[in-house]
Amino acid sequence: MSKTPEEADATSKGRRKFLIGMTSAASAVGAIGAAVPFVKSWIPSAKARSAGAPKTADIARVGPGEMLTPIPSWRGKPVFVIRRTSKDIERLEAENPELADPESEDLARQPLYAKNAWRSRDPELGVYVGICTHLGCSPKYYGEAKPEDFASDWKGGFYCPCHGSRFDLAGRVVKDVPAPDNLDVPPYSYLSDTEIIIGVDEDSVAAAPGDDPEEIA
Ligand code: FES
Repeated sequence: MSKTPEEADATSKGRRKFLIGMTSAASAVGAIGAAVPFVKSWIPSAKARSAGAPKTADIARVGPGEMLTPIPSWRGKPVFVIRRTSKDIERLEAENPELADPESEDLARQPLYAKNAWRSRDPELGVYVGICTHLGCSPKYYGEAKPEDFASDWKGGFYCPCHGSRFDLAGRVVKDVPAPDNLDVPPYSYLSDTEIIIGVDEDSVAAAPGDDPEEIA
């Protein structure tokens, strides 16, 4: 039996509504499907999270005049942990006209608690990011041993082999070398007399929630 014009019109409207509904649903599903990989790409991998996590270091293994090995790595950068002798500390506290920024005036280079002659929380233990402030090579630690003949008055510190920059045992750069700034001091705190945590500033509790300290040394 053929439909009346009113019945045919009602059927056509119903079909249109149905098709529009289906198209919208399919688009929504497609959008969700496309969004999942996009959102996923913004979630840092476990490896990336681990690389940025605070790291603990066993400082009981560093004797006077030594640097902790293997060298800890924090946020993909080497961190030099050194223990100074009482003679080293005396030298750092004495005036040294050779240094470019002896008072650590560049506040971006260290936390406030490290704005002192040793650039650290306490005179004995020094903690520095091992990246030269010139072009990013990693300097070498030499203690009192002379790295090259150039420095007859070498009193221990860090020497960058790439272009010859020198830093004292507090990571302070000497004048007239390519490196423009002192070595960076990372945030760090003491967990005990024998352990520090790098990446956590106890004054501000800077560790991100869920960041588990990872043993590296
Ligand atoms: S990168 Fe260290 S002196 Fe150039």
